[in-house]
Order: sequence, then structure tokens, then C-alpha cells
Amino acid sequence: MKRLMITGGAGFIGSNFTRYLLERYPDYTVLVYDKLTYAGNMDNLGDLAERFAGRYAFLQADICDASAVDDAIQSHRIDAIVNFAAETHVDRSIMDPDAFIQTDVYGTYVLLEATRKFELGRYHQISTDEVYGHVPVGSSRETDAIAPRSPYAASKASGDLLVNAYHVTYNLPVTMTRGANNIGPYQYPEKVVPLFVTNAIDNEPLPLYGDGLQMRDYQYVVDHCEAIDLVLQRGEIGEVYNVGTGSEMPNIEMTRLILEILGKPESLVRHVPDREGHDRRYSLDVSKIRALGWEPDHSCAEAIELTTRWYVENEWWWRKIKSGEYKQYYQRQYGWRLAQAGQDNRQA
Ligand code: NAD
Ligand code: DAU
Repeated sequence: MKRLMITGGAGFIGSNFTRYLLERYPDYTVLVYDKLTYAGNMDNLGDLAERFAGRYAFLQADICDASAVDDAIQSHRIDAIVNFAAETHVDRSIMDPDAFIQTDVYGTYVLLEATRKFELGRYHQISTDEVYGHVPVGSSRETDAIAPRSPYAASKASGDLLVNAYHVTYNLPVTMTRGANNIGPYQYPEKVVPLFVTNAIDNEPLPLYGDGLQMRDYQYVVDHCEAIDLVLQRGEIGEVYNVGTGSEMPNIEMTRLILEILGKPESLVRHVPDREGHDRRYSLDVSKIRALGWEPDHSCAEAIELTTRWYVENEWWWRKIKSGEYKQYYQRQYGWRLAQAGQDNRQA
């Protein structure tokens, strides 16, 4: 497994993982295969072509396109796929689920078929804690039933089911990781941490959904990359591994921490109408990946601090994103919410 195809490698986690692998393994070659949707960004991979000439290639293509996938595998003599490619934002899945079903379900099927056809050495699926659904108490284990509640979570869960079915039916050599909320460099500023950091830098309101007491495990993306690598090297075929810090933080605390780091006032926070069907809590039991020899290097608070500082130092990266399509999305998602919050404040 030294010739990897990293699908979705121009996105947030995929680009961090690509950089991590190329730096860590001098004998690996990587093909990043990415459609470049609104979330894919060549800036995320900026330095790699030069630094890793001969070991790194990029191809713009869709994982739903079976012949493009087949050609890529043959022409780059791929022996393993790590699949990050997905539509990933819960709020967009609520607005418009279609692309989620296409990419996260059908696209996964296409990649599994290619793995079968070319008898690849491994297919690794990047999945999410959201497939377990809202977890009011305790923590989700890998053997728990999945109970997704948003179109995004349901599309990811469907992909997971296909991966398992291909393992059982065709004996495909698969592994899977289910990660908690990742934060760090190159995350598209629709996700809450980069959204709040960049809004706060600009003294714009921070639209906190509902009471802000929803719990998330904010983990640093490089910790997640190390765990994926470990599962690729030492994970058991057919097994699923949860990946997170194993601790959680309410969103309001995450928000206050960002404001404190930036020296901005709490008056920027707006309690806006909640996300529909909002999962109030995710919590992963991470004992299985720990038993394999992995420990996160960062707590949630450290991850938030590192991430905040990266956005402060890398305005060049996010300023150009926060225009065009982003503005239209922002208006559609937050226009009425912020107006409603303003009205509530005036009435109070
Ligand atoms: P992202 O939205 O930043 O990137 C997704 C990438 O996939 C983009 O580069 C996009 O262009 C590409 N893509 C989308 N549709 C495609 C298609 N049809 N063909 C080829 N490429 C396509 O996402 P991310 O946050 O980096 O998430 C990566 C993976 O990790 C996803 O599978 C996601 O479900 C999973 N995950 C994310 C988190 C998180 O907190 N961000 C946590 C756990 C799991
Ligand atoms: O848990 C893993 C998942 O984490 C990944 O599978 C998803 O791809 C990723 O998008 C993320 O999903 P979340 O819905 O948890 O992330 P998001 O950043 O959208 O929201 C985090 C929390 O912050 C959630 O409780 C909703 C809240 N939130 C979010 C936004 C965008 C707000 O309060 N206001 C906001 O504007």
C-alpha cells in the first residue's frame, strides 16, 4: 500500500492527510482525486506539487464517474483508496440533500466497485460520529447501532453500510474510521469554528444555534490524520475505529474561548433559531483506537486555540473564500436567522 488514491484530497481533512502522508513516508506516492466542489480548494495543496515532485499528482474528477475512477487507478497503478470525498455540511444537507445522496452514497459504491474490480489492497472509508445520531447519555461504541438523523448523517451511514456489505459479501479488504468534529488549517468557513473565528475578526455577529448547549468533541485535524494512518498500518480488516479526544465541550464554551483568544466582546454572539433536527450531543468511546496505540496530542481547548491562531495568520486563505457563492449561502442560511435574533433582542 504505497500508491494511494486520496479522494476528496483537496478538502479540509483530505489535504491535511495528504501533506501528512507525503511528509511521513518518503516511499509513498499519492494521487489526489477531487471534483473541486465549492469545498475543494487547490490552495489547500499549494506547496505539495513542488515539494513532492514525482510522488504527488492531482486529478480533477468525480467519484461518481466510474470510468474516470477506473482510468485513474490504472494509469497511476493505485493499490489503495482512502475516501474523504463527500458533501459534508449538515446545514447544506438540510437545504438541498441531492448532492449528498449522489456523492456520499453512489460515489462510495463506485469506489467500492473499483476496489473489487482491480483487487486493491485496501479501501479505507472516512466516516463520522454523526452516523450514531444524537447520544443523550454515555458514549457510542463501534458496535452500536447507527441512527442518523440529518440527510448528511444518513448519506454517510448509507456509505458505511455499503462498505460493510462489500467486506462481508466480496471479502473486500476495508477499514473505517468514524471521526468527531475536526478543526484546524484549511477548513471551509461554513463550519462553526472557522465561521466564528473569521466573523469575530471582522466584528461580525456569531450566529449560535439555539441555547448553545449542544456538545461537540472538537479534535485537531492532525490528530485525526495520525489515527487514520495508524488504522491503515495496523487496523484489522473489516473493523471500524472511532476517533476523537473522548471529551466534549458545549458550543457556548467553544464560542467564548474563541472570543477570549481574539480579545473580542461577547456581545458579538447572537442566539439564532436552531438547526432543524439538531443533534444535541455526540460522544465517542475511543478505547478501541487507543488500544491500537493512538493518543490525541491536543485537547479540545488546545485545538481551538491552534485553529484560531491559524486563521488569524492566514487571512490570505479565507478572505477570498468569503465572497461569491459563500455570500449567497450565508444570506440563505443566516439572513432570516440574524433578522429574527435582532427582533427577539428588541422585544426583550
Ligand atoms: P470538505 O467538505 O472540506 O472536503 C470534501 C472534499 O471532497 C472537497 O475537496 C470536495 O471537492 C470533494 N468532493 C465532494 N464531492 C466529490 C465528488 N463527487 N467527487 C470527488 N470529490 C468530491 O470535507 P472534510 O471536512 O475534509 O471531510 C472529509 C471527510 O471526512 C468526509 O467524508 C466527511 O464526512 C468526513 N468527516 C469530517 C469531519 C469534520 O469534522 N470535518 C469529521 C468526521 C468525518
Ligand atoms: O461530528 C463530525 C461532523 O462534524 C462531520 O461529520 C461533519 O462533516 C462536520 O461538518 C461536523 O458537523 P457539525 O454539524 O457538528 O459541525 P458544524 O461546524 O456545522 O457545527 C458544530 C456545532 O455548532 C453544531 O452543534 C451546530 C453549531 N453551529 C454551527 C454553525 C455552522 C452553530 O451554533 N452555529 C453555526 O452557524
